[in-house]
Amino acid sequence: MDYFKQNLKIKHLSFPRFIGGPLDGITDSPFRKLVRDFSKEELLYTEMRHVCSVVTPKGGAMALDFSQYERPLNFQVSANSPEHVKAACEKIVQAGVDMIDLNVGCPARNVVTSCCGSALMANPVMLEKILKEFKRVIPDHVPFTIKIRSGFKQVNAVDIAKLAQDCGVDALAIHPRLQPQMFTGLPDYKVAAAVKQAVSIPVIFSGNVVNFKTAKMTYEATGVDGFLIGRGIWAKPWKLEEMKQHAMGNEYVVDQSMILQVALRHLSLMVEQFGVHGLLRFRKHLPFYIKGHPSASALRSRLVRSESEADIKEGLQEFLS
Ligand SMILES: Cc1cc2nc3c(=O)[nH]c(=O)nc-3n(C[C@H](O)[C@H](O)[C@H](O)COP(=O)(O)O)c2cc1C
Repeated sequence: MDYFKQNLKIKHLSFPRFIGGPLDGITDSPFRKLVRDFSKEELLYTEMRHVCSVVTPKGGAMALDFSQYERPLNFQVSANSPEHVKAACEKIVQAGVDMIDLNVGCPARNVVTSCCGSALMANPVMLEKILKEFKRVIPDHVPFTIKIRSGFKQVNAVDIAKLAQDCGVDALAIHPRLQPQMFTGLPDYKVAAAVKQAVSIPVIFSGNVVNFKTAKMTYEATGVDGFLIGRGIWAKPWKLEEMKQHAMGNEYVVDQSMILQVALRHLSLMVEQFGVHGLLRFRKHLPFYIKGHPSASALRSRLVRSESEADIKEGLQEFLS
């Protein structure tokens, strides 16, 4: 289908339609580098960081500790007022990103109780003030996007999308579930289709898109312009490339030796970025790399207790080669 061969345009920038979505604690800088090994042009979102933390020296250093190799990058922030937006955006733009995204969709309890994330969908007056502040302070060459849900407790995505467009937002992503649904249940394709109909800015879909088949089905149901791949990319950094190849009618082979190389590089990147904590963070990914193998549970028990990079690498090599 020609649609999948054309790029998605956001303001003056253009990207393939499959995008690496934000998964806090998963799509960190090492993981984005792995994705970049496979996909050179695709847009990748960073994990959400609050504007207040970006402006502090420690929080800012951590949040902005990414490499230019990861670009094109959409840096995602959260905010519950216009305060700190200017200072945060200045630091983010200076660090070298391609876009800034405001999270208006996070359902987590600690986030919504501080009136951030999806709670902003229930407070359009505050949301408008925040959006206008972002547009005021972000330089023209850096597009500004938002990521929303169907609504907070009630569906109002169309109204929020129109508000965003009127405030000058350049594109929006929608994860069409309400806040209480968190990440489960069927996404509401009708809401996403209604949003696409209601605005002229690009609309990107997020939710249960895990391969080319589900992207095609989602496009047919909604007419959206692009797809954020979230959980589908977890431990599969080749996923965007695989989808691109399938969209072109090509085969894409993933074998054990490729999974082994990816897992080993992932571990090295984790240790490079986070030192000894990288080993602990890698434990979250390990089960996915060895999933389905007959002795996966024995290896998992051995490796999650391991405290050395060399030992984990040796175990993975023995196991997967
Ligand atoms: C562990 C986890 C962390 C997430 N972190 C973020 C985040 O930082 N920012 C955000 O906008 N969405 C976040 N999301 C939501 C995803 O980006 C996505 O919208 C949602 O999971 C549905 O898409 P999927 O089915 O492709 O995963 C997160 C989801 C999960 C499961």
